[in-house]
Amino acid sequence: MSHFEWRDGRLHADDIPVEAIAEAVGTPTYIYSATAIRAAFHRLHTAFAPLDAELHYALKASPNLHLVRLMRELGAGADVVSGGELERAWLAGTPMSEIVFAGVGKSEEEVRAALDGRFSPLAAAAARFGAPDPAGRGPVGLFNVESESELGRLSRIAAELAVRARYCLRVNPNVDPHTHEYTTTGKEENKFGIDADRIVDLVERWVGRPGLDFRGLHLHIGSPVPRVEPYAEAVAVAFELIDELARRGHQVTVLNLGGGWPIPYTEGSVPPLEAYAERLVPLLAGRVARGLKVLLEPGRSILGNSGLLLARVEHVKRGRAKTFVICDGGMHSLIRPALYRAFHFAWPARWQGPPPRWVEEPDLPGLERCDLVGPICETGDFLARGRLLPPVEQGDLIAVFSAGAYGISMSSNYNDHGRPAEVLVDGSRVIQINARQRLDVLLETEREAVELTVPVVS
Ligand code: LLP
Repeated sequence: MSHFEWRDGRLHADDIPVEAIAEAVGTPTYIYSATAIRAAFHRLHTAFAPLDAELHYALKASPNLHLVRLMRELGAGADVVSGGELERAWLAGTPMSEIVFAGVGKSEEEVRAALDGRFSPLAAAAARFGAPDPAGRGPVGLFNVESESELGRLSRIAAELAVRARYCLRVNPNVDPHTHEYTTTGKEENKFGIDADRIVDLVERWVGRPGLDFRGLHLHIGSPVPRVEPYAEAVAVAFELIDELARRGHQVTVLNLGGGWPIPYTEGSVPPLEAYAERLVPLLAGRVARGLKVLLEPGRSILGNSGLLLARVEHVKRGRAKTFVICDGGMHSLIRPALYRAFHFAWPARWQGPPPRWVEEPDLPGLERCDLVGPICETGDFLARGRLLPPVEQGDLIAVFSAGAYGISMSSNYNDHGRPAEVLVDGSRVIQINARQRLDVLLETEREAVELTVPVVS
């Protein structure tokens, strides 16, 4: 199930005992396996190979520059949702033409930088990262446009800069992805995309306007999507639109299916990726043969089970009602359990027994039911609740699995903790790809108070 396994009672990432990493960089720390990342990438790529699908890595899952570089080496483009992610993707060597830019709230500044590198917020700093001057880099490959208002902004800025913005319209197909309400994006009550019945009219009214180049449709219905059928339903909505647009003389050349491909947080909990491909490939193959380009924006399916969070036990507290295992990692390091009640399999790094099964209730002797919590001053600060774990004590290391996606990217400085370190293991190599955030760095923007002169209306 994962590239993390116990050898001689010690948890390894590829060939490296995680204890050694904790010794070197401390905890909490995110550990990724490059071997696992490559394997997950190839698996998705192979599943959708009959469609010759272009993979655009969704940076929001795990945006570390070195991970994005690895994606680039594997041949991925990038899916970004902010000006910050755009600069990361570009710094990591993704050509602008292979970046797709989504998001409901793209600002003036973000659109400008995405169209013309002279407006990059990194103009002065790029050289420090070994990157060329962004000035000449050109516009992003595609904008995923999420409203008519955004189309207006895009047209105006592109015309002003004398460039053409290639774009897809993000369709809200009103299908239920059967996932957590906070990560459901394709139902009509969600803020994302444009209602399907408004798309044709929008294309008709905006075609030929300055600065715009309509290429196709974008879908992203939610994440993770634990069933296959919602994708097929969404694709059916897109097909109807594509056909209606064709009848009116507007050719759609791109269909972006977004991300949402799930991972098993527990054994066998979701269909394998191949099941999604088996359903979708026959639907799309004919159109691909006639020239439709299919894009995918995977994040979790590549990084999720390729990374874990390693935390150290600070205290074990046996209360009247519960036993608490208190670690240095908590909701500030991995917020998914607190925010979505997400299940992450967790187990001590030292374990002599048989490989533990990733199930909610492990059937092993000698386990103790406990809450695995962090140091944060909130009752909602937990990594696992009511979990059966082997007995642990102060100083032990605990691995929280499936944390490679939406782990570090959603971590915070709450209670003034620096963000965790990140380490990439590649076979027998160990590479620290992010330093633990230092307190002085955290405080830097507050160091000096600056008196502002603002006009006062009396
Ligand atoms: N494309 C778009 C437009 C997206 O909004 C997302 C994720 C993706 C692609 C990548 O989806 P993936 O392949 O990773 O499922 N924080 C939540 C997940 C939020 C996903 C947001 N959008 C979690 O921890 O589960």
